[in-house]
Amino acid sequence: MSLARNTAKSLLVALVAAAAALSLAACGRDEADLSNGKALFVERCGSCHVLGRAGTAGPTGPDLDAAFRAALADGMDRETVEGVVHKQILNPRKNSVMPPELVTGDDARDVAAYVGFAAARRGQDEGALAQAGLANATSGEQIFTAGGCAGCHTLAKANATGTIGPSLDDLAAAAGEADGSPEDYVRESLLDPDAVVAEGFQPGVMPSYEGRLSDEQVQALAEYLLEGG
Ligand code: HEC
Ligand code: HEC
Repeated sequence: MSLARNTAKSLLVALVAAAAALSLAACGRDEADLSNGKALFVERCGSCHVLGRAGTAGPTGPDLDAAFRAALADGMDRETVEGVVHKQILNPRKNSVMPPELVTGDDARDVAAYVGFAAARRGQDEGALAQAGLANATSGEQIFTAGGCAGCHTLAKANATGTIGPSLDDLAAAAGEADGSPEDYVRESLLDPDAVVAEGFQPGVMPSYEGRLSDEQVQALAEYLLEGG
């Protein structure tokens, strides 16, 4: 634990100097599009990083709320955080598991601006920003990530390791024992989670996704969760 923290801290220190140069070069450009940045973050980054406001819980890379919380508390401003993130996107260290240029150009700027805005910030996104990410997610995997499911559920194919709810690796079997079709079982789990409570778990923990997911998204998610592998 403390080893991981030290590594994150030294990484940050190394990145800050380079970032300062980059944010100078970025002067005079148009405003960043935070909604675009959030949607792209969820799609391209969320499977590896925790960022609370984006609802992502990827376990592979550093938790970005935790990574920047101490630096912000120590007086680093959010523009510098943005610069650090921008630099990291374009130039991850050599041999990093994080691939370079997952996003480029204005998209990279927008993602960096969103992380700079959102990292370790209390509360929830509002207005159009609240819808970004989940609204644009179409594949089951994107919806799973954007919906924040990974924070509570284990699902091997999504690299999710949450333990607050039941593992979804064997969902097809659990859903097969239900009265209706497996799809209906998953649909009900999402829209009315307390209607049937999985054995060994508490009601009132899983939030309802009624009104947050479209019918198409619920369908895509159900197919994704029930398909093998
Ligand atoms: C395949 C997993 C993976 C993906 C996808 C990924 N990252 Fe990373 N990221 C990592 C790992 C692992 C590190 C740790 C440092 C390293 O290896 O470079 C990291 C480090 C970082 C850091 C530095 C954090 C610190 O403590 O200094 C930032 C910022 C970051 N990533 C942002 C992003 C953004 C933004 C995206 C999407 C454009 C992204 N990452 C996509 C795995 C990933
Ligand atoms: C805050 C934690 C939390 C979040 C976020 C969450 N869940 Fe759950 N989930 C639970 C808990 C706890 C249960 C068990 C109680 C129950 O059945 O309602 C559960 C139950 C389920 C079940 C029924 C599993 C079974 O074996 O019967 C499914 C399916 C499910 N969740 C899918 C999802 C999906 C998909 C998402 C994201 C869109 C999600 N959950 C988000 C906590 C969460």
